[in-house]
Amino acid sequence: MAEAAADLPLAEDRAVRRASTAQLTAGQRLALKYFTVAMVLFLAQMLFGLLAGLQFLMPDFLLGVLDFNVNRMVHINAMIVWMLYGFIGAIYWLVEDEAGVPLVGIKLANATFWVLTAAVTVVVVVYLLVQAGPGEMRSIWLINEGREYIEAPRWADIGIVLCMAAFFYNVAGTFMKGRWSGISGTLVLDLIALAGLYFAGMFYTTNLSVDQYWWWWVVHLWVEATWEVLVGCIMAWGLMKTLGVRRKIVTTWLYIEVALMFGSGILGLGHHYFWIGTPEYWLGIGGFFSALEPVPLVAMVVHAVYDAGRHGFQSNNHPALAWLIAHAFGNFLGAGVWGFIQTLPQINLYTHGTQWSASHGHLAFFGAYATIVVAFVYLALQRWRGEVWMSGDLPDKGWKWKWALALLNVGALGMTIALLIAGYEQSFTERAIGGSTWQAFFEGQTRPWFVQAMQWRMAFGVLMTVGLVLLLWDFLVIGKGEARPAKALPAMESPQQRSSPQP
Ligand code: HEM
Ligand code: HEM
Ligand SMILES: [Fe+2]
Repeated sequence: MAEAAADLPLAEDRAVRRASTAQLTAGQRLALKYFTVAMVLFLAQMLFGLLAGLQFLMPDFLLGVLDFNVNRMVHINAMIVWMLYGFIGAIYWLVEDEAGVPLVGIKLANATFWVLTAAVTVVVVVYLLVQAGPGEMRSIWLINEGREYIEAPRWADIGIVLCMAAFFYNVAGTFMKGRWSGISGTLVLDLIALAGLYFAGMFYTTNLSVDQYWWWWVVHLWVEATWEVLVGCIMAWGLMKTLGVRRKIVTTWLYIEVALMFGSGILGLGHHYFWIGTPEYWLGIGGFFSALEPVPLVAMVVHAVYDAGRHGFQSNNHPALAWLIAHAFGNFLGAGVWGFIQTLPQINLYTHGTQWSASHGHLAFFGAYATIVVAFVYLALQRWRGEVWMSGDLPDKGWKWKWALALLNVGALGMTIALLIAGYEQSFTERAIGGSTWQAFFEGQTRPWFVQAMQWRMAFGVLMTVGLVLLLWDFLVIGKGEARPAKALPAMESPQQRSSPQP
């Protein structure tokens, strides 16, 4: 952004810096659109989460009108889609700066955005209007494919693949026309893997074990391999921009993290193959490799915190830096620690498919992915509003972004702990004592610890929702009417670092 900032007509002479898309490149304007849809879907995710959570406490609530399975599906599908929108937005935000040339194929990129957004809208409306129906090929093509997290019907699957191909062309084409770097090379290779994996979730078989076997290729290899590498790339770029960390350093770390991530995450897939009818050797392979998965996440924390410390936490964008740090810790705790505690087959036997999984799922997705998208939205807003001051001393004392940060993170952590307590009750009553019978399954969910934990989850969910509303409010106003330019970072001012595209 430093280079781009120098080329673009910023309103230096104006007393007050104004939000204006004229100050943005074509890719950055597109990024703002992606971020906008992402935030609308984030809010939708929360609302459907609240409905699903309430149904744990009041099973009759909206029964037959908006059933639990539908709320749950919209909740997690909205999450996957908003995070993908956030990543695409972040990539469009950085691609021209990183490549040093304007975006290739801007018309196609804009058309793709509208087609994709229209398709997402249709899919959600159909989910809500057609909540039940026959399990036949027509339903798979038009209504719902029935695979958790990626339930979109097949017509939408094909559309999504085409949109991703167009996106890939825009991104790879821009780097090919401009210059490559360690970050962009890693990013483009990762996008090939990410898009390719989606195919594994698209075909249909009547054998549930085979179906699940491939479905996990998408779900696990996305979040524990390709998404992690993708956020590693955008984090590397974000650290250069918010702190002025040197390119050589972020790129070296990126390579180490990618090697560790793929080294452990790919075979770590086996931790989903313990009990679904796959061969027994997966117990050993899955247990061993997935237990190593926290290692790259520790590396990420060290990297981010060390860099921030090296620069005395001097940053030109305090909210973005705070969310980047929240990302490093959230990823380590939610994915690394909460994943690790249930990844050995000896333990997973008792915890599999209980609220332990939901506990880990919430902290991991929030900690690893929601956080970094929020950080990027702050980076984008800073530039859009005229490369304004976003360090300490904000006019509102920064209370909105600080409270949003606190409420969302405390809410997520509180919800995670509540769900873990519910999970303990389930493993104890349903598995250890009840021997995994059908009756014990229901018994576990009537126990006081379980029920109370579900109440606490709702309370923390409300906290998170308030935090999100505050965050969206802050997005709408932060930097408006600000006269001061963004703080200059000492490290960024050296021309040597500005113009060194190679690692
Ligand atoms: C950001 C990265 C990660 C995300 C977003 C994530 C998310 C999730 C989610 C949502 C589930 C539940 C899936 C379902 O619906 O059945 C799950 C399951 C699981 N995850 Fe992760 N995870 C991540 C990283 C990790 C890591 C690093 C480990 C191990 C160290 C791990 C271990 C597990 C295990 C063992 C299960 C299966 C739980 C069960 O048996 O029910 N995860 N993960
Ligand atoms: C208002 C706040 C929220 C509430 C009340 C809520 C509630 C719920 C409920 C009731 C479920 C179904 C769990 C089950 O089937 O047992 C669920 C699943 C899930 N939610 Fe949330 N949620 C909230 C926010 C979030 C956020 C912010 C994220 C991530 C960024 C998230 C990620 C997930 C995931 C990954 C699952 C699937 C977990 C699994 O299958 O194990 N939720 N949520
Ligand atoms: Fe996994």
